[in-house]
Formats: sequence, C-alpha cells, structure tokens
Amino acid sequence: CGSPRPLRADNVSELSPPQPLVVLYNGSSLLYIPDAILIPTPFYGVIAEDVHLYSGVRLFHVHLDCEPTGSRPFHLTVDKLEEAMRKAISEGLNVRAVVLVNPHNPLADVYSPQEMTGFLEFAKRHKLHAIVDEVYMLTVFEDTVTFHSVLSMDSLPDPQRTHVMWGMSKDFAMAGVRVGTVYSDNRDLVEALDKLGMFHGVPGPIQHQMAILLQDKDWINGKFLPENRLRMQAAHRYMTGELQSLGVPYLHRPAGFYIWADLRKYLYEPSFAEELSLWRCFLRHKVVLSCGQAFHCSTPGWFRIVFTDRQQHLTLGTFSCFSLLMIAGEENRYREMLIFFPPPFSACSLFCPVFL
Ligand SMILES: Cc1ncc(COP(=O)(O)O)c(C=O)c1O
Repeated sequence: CGSPRPLRADNVSELSPPQPLVVLYNGSSLLYIPDAILIPTPFYGVIAEDVHLYSGVRLFHVHLDCEPTGSRPFHLTVDKLEEAMRKAISEGLNVRAVVLVNPHNPLADVYSPQEMTGFLEFAKRHKLHAIVDEVYMLTVFEDTVTFHSVLSMDSLPDPQRTHVMWGMSKDFAMAGVRVGTVYSDNRDLVEALDKLGMFHGVPGPIQHQMAILLQDKDWINGKFLPENRLRMQAAHRYMTGELQSLGVPYLHRPAGFYIWADLRKYLYEPSFAEELSLWRCFLRHKVVLSCGQAFHCSTPGWFRIVFTDRQQHLTLGTFSCFSLLMIAGEENRYREMLIFFPPPFSACSLFCPVFL
C-alpha cells in the first residue's frame, strides 16, 4: 500500500469473513445501540446485512445524487457528510463512525489523497471512527490513475480512530478463500478483533499459503498484476463500447470489476417496482445484473454491470441483455417481452457473481 513507514505486524488482525466488516462493526465494542454509522449511498448492500447480523446499529445514509449541479454524479464531498451529520444529530442519533469505501463499490470511484484527507478530517472533527474499506485496492486498471491507500499518508488525522480493511478476494481473484485483514493503531480494537478470531479465524494452512503468495513479489508485480490489468482494460473497453453503441449512459471509472449504468430510460415509470421488473426480465434471459435497490441507491433505474469475465461470457451476456434492451427500446416494452419472447439462450450467461 506504499506506506512511508513499515506497517506494524501487531496492528494487523487477520479474519475470515463473511467479511471483516461484520467483525469490525459489531465485535469491536466501538459501537453500542442506539449508535449509528454514516454510510454514503449507493453502497455494497451486504454491509447492511453484516451490520445487522450481530447488532442493531443503524446505518444512516448519506445520499449521493445522480444529477447534481456542477459536479460529477454521485460525488462524495465533505459538505454532504456534514449535512448528513447535522441531520442525524437532529434526529437524536449518536453517530460513532463513517464508512469510506475506496475504490468504491458500486461506483468504481477512486478518491484522491486530498479527498480522503478531507473525509478523515471530517471524521476527526466529529470524533467518528473511520472504517476505510480498501478491498478493491489493486483493481485500478487505468494506467493514468494511481490508488493511494490512507496508510500511505505521511500522517493520519486521527490514527486511533482510523481502521483500514483489505482482503484477498478481489485483488487476487480469490473470492471464497475468505481472508480479510484489519489494520489499526488502536490496540483495544485489534485485541478485541483478535479475540473474535475464535469465531472468524483464518485456518493455519490457508494463512501459510497466503504468506507464501504475498512474499512472491516478483510474480505479483511482474506477472499477475500487469496481466490482470491488461485483461481488465480489454474487458472494460469491450463493455463500455457496447454501452456506448446502445446509448446507455454510465460512469466511466478507472477501477473495480463493474460499471454503474443508467437504465432509467427503460423503466415504465421511475419506481423501484419497475426497476425490479427490469431486473427480473434480465434474469429470465439468463443475465444477472445487480439493481440499484440492492445498493440502497436513492434513484431507481441504475444497474451494476460486472465486466470482468471471459470474453465468451461477455459476448453472450451483452448479446442477450442488450438485444433485450434494444427490442424493448425506450417504449419500455420489456413487460410484453416477458410474456411473448422466450429467453434467447438456454446456456447461462452471468455477468455477476451477486456478492461482488
Ligand atoms: C466494498 C466491499 N467490501 C467488502 C467486501 C467483502 O469482501 P469478501 O468477499 O472478501 O467478504 C465486498 C465484497 O463484494 C465489497 O464490495
């Protein structure tokens, strides 16, 4: 992560998720009911399940807008965090933490060090724990963009309240291996997390294999990451080309496995029920996309399209999905298609392992 100082091994807690968030949010003794956590929307929806698995801590949404005036869509700013904080306080909530995901899921935004510093200073001003999720750290595929971990800052605004999460699943294409880490200067937190290792520990043989893998820096930096980046660039180019040819607006971002696309023009009316109908229609045609509702997006009609798959699957998936949209057109005839048109393929073309 480019830290200017060596990271301390005793600041690390390795955990086998569901994901470290479950443990971090709930086992850390940081948060007590009726505490609340600020979280910008849209966000990776499983966070809500994780938080509610062990606790009644409330997630207080910081709604990002898809059509703000004069800034980029869904842009997270300190002003929006401050506004949400004021609102939460006026509702009598005791906000104790803020979640910052960088690179973001599902927006694929990569926040600059200046932006992250602003967010962390906001957290410090309000004595909030900053839960920084960097699980997509190595997924930046555009050559002109560099990811900066908060751990690479010369100094953190509030090191005792800044906790950084990372895992193997995304950056090493190892979903299912279930290895996550939390890095924090806060001894109480790390000790509490280590105690939870009893329930969420990473098995010894897996730790051993991960250590061998992570020590092989020549292979990681010389082979794996460059090849991975090239493949992601090619798949992203293909998918954005398809979206452009269909006239679908989307966020062009340099990271992540997915594209946040605006399918609002295909809805009968702007409602989440309609969004669900469209999602069902894709599913009937053997394509799994994730709809905005799953990410608590405040505007219906946005979908996350995963593009990191084999070319053959992408071709099949885009053909199935886009021919459906093309026939449906902007007159929203996909409902009729559900009735009259059989799914075009019997083979499954999945865009999306649902829990990415
Ligand atoms: C932002 C974010 N954090 C954490 C996770 C969980 O990662 P894991 O699959 O390793 O549990 C995900 C999974 O998609 C994610 O998108």
